[in-house]
Amino acid sequence: MELREWAERILSADTLEEKLLEPGYWTDETPGSPLFWNEPSRPPSMQFRRHSRKEVLPSFAELAHPDKRAICLHRFAGHELLAVEIMAYALLAFPQTPRSFRLGIAYTLKEEQEHVRLYIKRLEALGLKFGDLPLYRHFWNSTPYLKNPVQYVSVMSLTFEMANLDFAPIYGAHFASHGDSASSQLMTRILDDEIGHVSFGWNWLKKWKQEGEDLWQMWTRALPPKMEIKRARGPQFFAEHRKEAGISEDWIARFTKPLA
Ligand SMILES: [Fe+2]
Ligand SMILES: [Fe+2]
Repeated sequence: MELREWAERILSADTLEEKLLEPGYWTDETPGSPLFWNEPSRPPSMQFRRHSRKEVLPSFAELAHPDKRAICLHRFAGHELLAVEIMAYALLAFPQTPRSFRLGIAYTLKEEQEHVRLYIKRLEALGLKFGDLPLYRHFWNSTPYLKNPVQYVSVMSLTFEMANLDFAPIYGAHFASHGDSASSQLMTRILDDEIGHVSFGWNWLKKWKQEGEDLWQMWTRALPPKMEIKRARGPQFFAEHRKEAGISEDWIARFTKPLA
């Protein structure tokens, strides 16, 4: 299947099966002209809902209850579905980028689809169905600021996915401490994949760096106006996961300084 067709089908899907469609093989003969997708279609139970301040995630202490863990996993599944859609957005928005960049996005998208499936399986084991709780626009709110591939890797790989190098192990440890090893192992799997996704974004940022340009500045300049750099980390900072992703010592050091 052509990458463009795959991306269009994902973004206009009104069933979960179509969102998680796996074509088996990809071609990219007709990437077309840039298309900035406005809003993804969603199955009826998965429409974007307004996020009220009251709808906070359960506290770590509350994760002793399986129902509360399921609420967290539902939220994370929602993030993965958004990642699928944003990667489809990127395939349509950046048809003129190198073939290896596009194939890298396609491969990452496929892994995000698998993350959705894995979270759904775990949710169901805890008695919750995907779509039973509200889902939010969240990452999709950034798409008006994803107008070039540098912005895409800066926001998606080096901010949202980067933050998951902290959130995945933090939640994994809490799930394990309450004896839920299946959920904890799932977070470890997610972390491993996300390290690869961050690495992908980092390597492309380096490739697109101009002579004399500073990578940190390149990243911060590419972020949407209201996006703070602290969005790229969790309450606990795991330098070692960033090192595994190949992030430079210099970048990591700038991160561990007090945040603006
Ligand atoms: Fe993911
Ligand atoms: Fe990812």
